[in-house]
Amino acid sequence: MSFDTIITDGIVITAADSFEADVAIEADRVVALGRNLPRDSAKNIIDAKGKLILPGGIDVHTHLDMPFGGTTSADDFETGTRAAAFGGTTTLIDFAIQYKGQTLRTAFDTWMKKAESKACTDYSFHCIITDLPDAQLDEMPQLVREGVTSFKLFMAYPGVFMLDDASIFKALRSSAKTGALVCMHAENGGAIDVIVKQALAEGRTAPKYHALTRPTTAEAEATARAIALAEMAGAPIYIVHLSCNDALEKVREARDRGLPVFAETCPQYLYLSIDNFDAPGFEGAKYVFTPPLREKWHQEKLWNGLKNDHLQVVSTDHCPFCFKDQKELGKDDFTKIPNGGPGIEHRMSLIYSGGVAKKRFTVNRFVELTAATPAKLFGLYPRKGTIAVGSDADIVIFDPIREHTISAKTHHMRVDYSMFEGIRVTGMPEVVLSRGRVIVEKNEFLGRAGQGEFIKRSTQA
Ligand code: URP
Ligand code: ZN
Ligand code: ZN
Repeated sequence: MSFDTIITDGIVITAADSFEADVAIEADRVVALGRNLPRDSAKNIIDAKGKLILPGGIDVHTHLDMPFGGTTSADDFETGTRAAAFGGTTTLIDFAIQYKGQTLRTAFDTWMKKAESKACTDYSFHCIITDLPDAQLDEMPQLVREGVTSFKLFMAYPGVFMLDDASIFKALRSSAKTGALVCMHAENGGAIDVIVKQALAEGRTAPKYHALTRPTTAEAEATARAIALAEMAGAPIYIVHLSCNDALEKVREARDRGLPVFAETCPQYLYLSIDNFDAPGFEGAKYVFTPPLREKWHQEKLWNGLKNDHLQVVSTDHCPFCFKDQKELGKDDFTKIPNGGPGIEHRMSLIYSGGVAKKRFTVNRFVELTAATPAKLFGLYPRKGTIAVGSDADIVIFDPIREHTISAKTHHMRVDYSMFEGIRVTGMPEVVLSRGRVIVEKNEFLGRAGQGEFIKRSTQA
């Protein structure tokens, strides 16, 4: 028996189990798990004593190189996937946007070109549909056959991304047939637009009005409507970036009725609140993303939702814009602040720290939320999302006691601020492998642009 790499003496953590084992890797796959695997024949030995051996993180909600709000998100597929790797995320699912009048295929081809030569980790795409005339409905199953097995639809951003209920319903009916999954941005865009116009007319232009014009009820109403449309279509539905208890209640009720309804939240809704808008001057713009930050009490409700499986996934909605020149576009009008925040690098540490170190849930639940369930829901499992013989050797050797203070001074994302500046976390990735290759070690990047592969995903059907 000879192996390329053996990771020795760590504790392997999956969604189901924790056990002491060596992990042997040959080429890009895990080929053996067990105590005292023969070490003399391995080309590379990585000592994981005292460390956790985790499946690489899977972030199913990122926006790299995305034109939005009059500018483009600051990380491209190279800088974004590199920062992800530093944080222990080895696969991401980004969004290919179909603009009105375009085919879905054009969206996919455009985003493949952005990623192909740049991605340092594996990646896949959801397709954002902004326009769905009947003549184009057949494009959905075509894309599913090419491994793009999920679609994002918007109930917000009228005139930009928002889709009407009839089109949403048709897309859901298509997904019911093909086994694809519809991801929904659930906010009532029409009502919000009325509130926003009134605020501007009254001279309320500061960043905090972004939050004050997007009530939790608008998110809860759209979440309930999305669930109802999915139920009528006989389709599953996945609610993205859920931010508040009102929407969480809608998801919980639907799941209690046995409906295939799933939802993610993001670290910003677990760690930040509307109080962040009290930052001096225009600094509140750093926290302008959608749905907005809520009152602090929602945070514990969301942590509870993660613990009790009312929420199934933590993603980042990484959509970075620099404060200088990008967020500043909205200096005199909060509606012109590009919506989005940077987070791809810190998801694993923030959720381990707040979830496991703070004893809100187990380390196995942590793996479930950050890797296993994302892989299962989005057609990557068991190739990714677990450590098992035959799985891709996407592995994070994680130090559960190392502490770190998050700061823009030390992060690797191409953005000039951190949403989580000064937050101290417990638990940090030490070594990161992507398909068997060490890409991060001792805080050094050892991967290269273009080594990440597009992953064709399967469906739930
Ligand atoms: O503010 C956000 N979330 N920007 C990215 C686009 C979206 O709605 O996910
Ligand atoms: Zn969204
Ligand atoms: Zn998003």
